[in-house]
Amino acid sequence: MTQPFDLSAWSQGHLDRVEQALSRWVGHGAPAGLGDAMRYAVLDGGKRLRPLLVLAAHEAAGASQPQAALRAACAVELIHAYSLVHDDMPCMDNDVLRRGKPTVHVQFGEAQALLAGDALQAFAFELLTPDGGEVPPDIQATLCRLLARAAGSQGMAGGQAIDLASVGVALTEDELRHMHRLKTGALLQGSVHMGAACGSLAYSAWQALSDYGAALGLAFQVVDDVLDVVADSATLGKTAGKDAAADKPTYVSLLGLDRAQAYARELLAQAHAALAASGLQDTQALAALADMVVRRSH
Ligand code: IPE
Ligand code: IPE
Ligand code: MG
Ligand code: MG
Ligand code: MG
Repeated sequence: MTQPFDLSAWSQGHLDRVEQALSRWVGHGAPAGLGDAMRYAVLDGGKRLRPLLVLAAHEAAGASQPQAALRAACAVELIHAYSLVHDDMPCMDNDVLRRGKPTVHVQFGEAQALLAGDALQAFAFELLTPDGGEVPPDIQATLCRLLARAAGSQGMAGGQAIDLASVGVALTEDELRHMHRLKTGALLQGSVHMGAACGSLAYSAWQALSDYGAALGLAFQVVDDVLDVVADSATLGKTAGKDAAADKPTYVSLLGLDRAQAYARELLAQAHAALAASGLQDTQALAALADMVVRRSH
């Protein structure tokens, strides 16, 4: 009988490497307190889902170029951390709690939070382009393009613009799906793309992993909307109930709790179907991460 896949055992070594690399790389030598704000934003917290997706996709794609994959895993987490710092600022969601700590602007002031986000974004791309032969130039370029697309106006930043423009607006289901795919899905799907780009895949397998990333990425934000309603702030490490208080359109406001949860399960099934269609062997970690996204409590 085959053993069930143990995600926490699989994750542990990867998480240790990511944590050590982030701590070694982020914020050193930055002037005037900026490094402290950068490190506060990135270290000691977060599920590190995006790095784990990079590394799981890398494994599914044959796991060549391990240094590139580690850099990609850290780079995408830096973009994510920057997006959280800015998302929490008073001009956006105005949140005071993140990853169980005061938000960066509460701790360091708004200007420093803005700059920490800026610097983390820039550093993500610096990490992807090391000197020497550690990462082949063509992979450097591909990783930069994938991350830029996922983070920019066609991805996270564009989705955040829709989010801000949608306060108090009754979006259609198509419009809400589009917003969620951009603001959150793009970076999660981009994580899968980046991991795959550090390996080698036939086009059909690439497309299947891309479909997996799209389904998982949307599921993640559907579940985030659900958790905002059903979980408490202590469990989440961020303020619960914010979406309704801020009159944001969410899957819960549009469909109600039960149908939002059912939709998340439907997307999970789509993610698994895409993995099955990929024809790849080493997809257990990707499958388990999708399960975790939909069944998580925080
Ligand atoms: C929160 O992301 C922001 C969204 C995109 C919904 P995570 O839930 O992955 O946050 P951390 O990294 O674990 O703190
Ligand atoms: C945030 O969505 C998406 C980002 C790009 C950061 P939310 O605003 O719902 O994320 P949380 O709930 O504050 O983590
Ligand atoms: Mg937001
Ligand atoms: Mg928010
Ligand atoms: Mg949320």
